[in-house]
Amino acid sequence: MGDQRLPLSQAKQRHQELCRAIAGHNYRYHVLDDPEISDAAYDSLMRDLLALEAAWPELLTAESPSQRVGDLRRESLADIRHRLPMLSLDNAFSEAEVEAFDRRIHERLGVAGDIDYAAEPKLDGLAIALLYRNGRLEHAVTRGDGSTGEDVTANVRAIRSVPLTLLGRPPNELEVRGEIFMPVAGFEKMNRDAAARNERTFVNPRNAAAGAVRQLDPRVTASRPLEIFFYSIGVIDGAEPPQRQSDLLAWLRTLGLRTCMEARAVRGLAGCLDYYRSVGARRGTLPYQIDGVVYKVEDRAQQEQLGFVSRAPRWAIAHKFPAEEVETQLRDVEFQVGRTGALTPVARLVPVFVGGVTVSNATLHNMDEVERKDVRIGDSVVVRRAGDVIPEVARVLLARRPADARPVVLPAECPVCGSLVVRDPDEAVARCTGGYSCAAQRKEALRHFASRRAMNIEGLGEKLIDQLVDAGLLRRPSDIYRLDAQQLAALDRMGDKSAAKLLSAIDNSRSTSLPRLLFALGIRDVGEATALALARHFGDLDPLLQVDAAQAEQVRDVGPVIAAHVAAYFHNEEHRQLLRELRELGVRWPALARPEPALQPLSGRIYVLTGTLQAMTREVAEQGLIALGAKVSGSVSRKTTAVIAGADAGSKLKKAVELGLPVLDEAELQKILATQGGRQDS
Ligand code: IVH
Repeated sequence: MGDQRLPLSQAKQRHQELCRAIAGHNYRYHVLDDPEISDAAYDSLMRDLLALEAAWPELLTAESPSQRVGDLRRESLADIRHRLPMLSLDNAFSEAEVEAFDRRIHERLGVAGDIDYAAEPKLDGLAIALLYRNGRLEHAVTRGDGSTGEDVTANVRAIRSVPLTLLGRPPNELEVRGEIFMPVAGFEKMNRDAAARNERTFVNPRNAAAGAVRQLDPRVTASRPLEIFFYSIGVIDGAEPPQRQSDLLAWLRTLGLRTCMEARAVRGLAGCLDYYRSVGARRGTLPYQIDGVVYKVEDRAQQEQLGFVSRAPRWAIAHKFPAEEVETQLRDVEFQVGRTGALTPVARLVPVFVGGVTVSNATLHNMDEVERKDVRIGDSVVVRRAGDVIPEVARVLLARRPADARPVVLPAECPVCGSLVVRDPDEAVARCTGGYSCAAQRKEALRHFASRRAMNIEGLGEKLIDQLVDAGLLRRPSDIYRLDAQQLAALDRMGDKSAAKLLSAIDNSRSTSLPRLLFALGIRDVGEATALALARHFGDLDPLLQVDAAQAEQVRDVGPVIAAHVAAYFHNEEHRQLLRELRELGVRWPALARPEPALQPLSGRIYVLTGTLQAMTREVAEQGLIALGAKVSGSVSRKTTAVIAGADAGSKLKKAVELGLPVLDEAELQKILATQGGRQDS
């Protein structure tokens, strides 16, 4: 090859030319869908590049298009923390729910007239965040739990529509987010090939994509037909991104980042629903799987004003397509015992293919549902499955009921431990009363305790917990911290090495955080968001051990039902004992800096601000009230202490008057802030 005799300076130049040309062709091919040269011509450029780099290895950089696929197989994927959390979306399953979403936006923004929305397909793949520093791809991280994901950089580099360097004038730092997916045609071909080789096939494109991205060997990822669409940004430094979502997508394209060409700017609720119908009608002809559409408020300033609740933005919603439904036969109904003892009737079905997978079990939720739907064993039933949702029995085809169909009977005793089953008249759920003495509850509680989002004990999974419980080594979560190497090594398929690894994972979990611990306890209806709210409110475990339901209800987003569960949990002697033991066994968490709510003059009061204030902004007023321990709510209810009405107050004022609530003006608000603020020091 003549290139070998070039002087280094010329080789450098040639290398740059080739890299640029190949990157440009990648862009035309992947982003614009408009290639300029044939595949053969492209391959020839690539061969030239490889030859040049073979002759002058010093020219090789990580960004060279030749370096997409590393050949290093890794032991495991490392965790990376997201600098800005990766959120999820709220779902709407009907037009009425989209209407309610649009109404809430009008109310919160206080604007009349149509809102501008960006409408996009909801891709059914795997969310990913890519960081480009000075235009170079630095890393790619999966969404994970939203705050920490896995480092999949080596694999993502192997996806051809991901640029290794950005085009145009990229900002110093740009985190772009999007969805990796497998087009349907590629998925089908891959499965046909796998079947022909007698290999395992994939359940659906989404699982296949997720599996390929979370590979330990990037060469495997490279062999899978993956693609990416970008739809938002995270961290950005050194550029002001466009103000509107649809302009943002156009800007991303100028940087060489692929976006979905089905995205549209639409006006108002009507525009959203038109878009939904039009995309829905073409759903089956799109080259990729989608499970709905997403509406996003176009204007970034409005997005910021709307903010977030828990894990999802208020300014966006996913409008899901209806779930796929098919018919099959109900063979039997069995009862599964969950973490809180709830008995769930599970339908055993004649297997059917629905929503992309073969289903042979479906949930019947609870006995109320069984009765409402009048489900009997032997019936022909309609089974429904959407996306990741657990398949369910939607309804019974009564006209086809056989004469010998048998009713479903709730067992009087727990099928696992034989304890009494009770069904609270106010509750749909029937529960085993065995508590930790029921092996099923014990196993579920332990599984939850050890799970990634809870105490995050790697290696302590379902199978091992089953073994440990069956061997009598684990009864309660505190027992985990009493396990020793000998006990573990004696188990099936567990050598000294894996025992040591597990013990070190257990030991690491001793230093945890209060939100994780509270979530891990499995208090009824306390999910991650509530655990976090409780931790922030009370700051440490000790105040929680004294809490009554009224105090628990002061916590943001905690209503009377959850408050009662929280209070009951911490007053139960068995649970108090567990917490003492966990502490004795070395489980630690830092206290969160939080003022004692009881010491605050306005704690327990709920205010609603409405209308325009003159002397201060709404935000200052809110912060002032919150700093004194009050809650500020967006809607008026009987629980509201008082409504503070500025100029031009509207519907909220009206509602306050209707409910006979105190209404204060701005002067009175100032008085409260001044006098109550003064009292704090005394
Ligand atoms: S926006 C805060 N746009 O849906 C914004 N997400 O259910 C959140 N998804 O984790 C993401 N298509 O993986 C957005 N056009 C789209 C999307 C999309 C698919 C996924 C994404 C997200 C999940 C939330």
